[in-house]
Amino acid sequence: MANDKAVITEHQGEEATAQKPAADPSPTAPVSSQTRPPLPHVAVPLVLCGQSALVTGANSGIGRAVALALAQAGADVVVNYVTDAPSAEAVVAEIRLEGRRALAIHADVSREDEVEAMFAQAVAEFGTLHIVVCNAGLQRDAPFHEMSLQQWNTVIGVNLTGQFLCARAAVREFMRRGVDEKVSVAAGKIIHMSSVHEIIPWATHANYAASKGGVQMLMKSLAQEVAPLRIRVNAIAPGAIRTPINTVAWKTAEAYDALMKLVPYKRIGEPEDIGRAAVWLASELSDYVTGTSLFVDGGMTLFPGFSSGG
Ligand code: BGC
Repeated sequence: MANDKAVITEHQGEEATAQKPAADPSPTAPVSSQTRPPLPHVAVPLVLCGQSALVTGANSGIGRAVALALAQAGADVVVNYVTDAPSAEAVVAEIRLEGRRALAIHADVSREDEVEAMFAQAVAEFGTLHIVVCNAGLQRDAPFHEMSLQQWNTVIGVNLTGQFLCARAAVREFMRRGVDEKVSVAAGKIIHMSSVHEIIPWATHANYAASKGGVQMLMKSLAQEVAPLRIRVNAIAPGAIRTPINTVAWKTAEAYDALMKLVPYKRIGEPEDIGRAAVWLASELSDYVTGTSLFVDGGMTLFPGFSSGG
């Protein structure tokens, strides 16, 4: 279908492979008069030592950056992927260079049997999990009147049902183990990968926006339910991040300048911006934080159109 841009995910390997400029993980920043200084260099603090994490869709984009940041913070990491095994193995190799344990596990997060098998394998390997990042997601964009049921179901299946299945498996493992205060005062931490589109409507992306709106209420309802068990549940809501999912929004200088009209901070987000937020949400630094969406968006949700009007 002409209007099905079949836009591409940073998370689920299948699509990432299709569009990926694969050998080019750090594409050159577009030339733009509005480009601000890039991501600052800061060391990730060692705040997750002795903890093990599972990140879905961790073979590229945001998931990859989150997996690497958690490892830099001291965690062992399971790298989930659905296609493109070599890219997952490359992330595993990078994590091992940090001196952490790492393991790539294949699973389609929209399939209950595969999620269950992945968690069983992760626990068998690492003993338990302390941090689960439900990141895998994709887009299937189309004008509403042309959106197929398959496009709808694919997006809801991965972005929402997949997050439910992984969060449920995480909660079951955290409940089984309970709190081990030598490792963390929480029984476990779940981080849902949401989007600014959990609150910003998005024409021709109704399936994607609906999935992220759903993620927000999944996260909040679960957080309320399991807080007494000392399980913390939060979301990160990224804005425009430089990944394969939205290449058309930043690849050329013209596209980048147009994107900056939506970003008051006047730079695109980098995957590392999200990795750093994930480290904070997974660590004791954020122990009193649960049921919240952390917007990492350069101000995209600040109604930038009102900076000069209204
Ligand atoms: C989407 C990107 C988009 C960004 C800001 C993300 O959730 O996946 O394609 O650029 O939101 O609109």
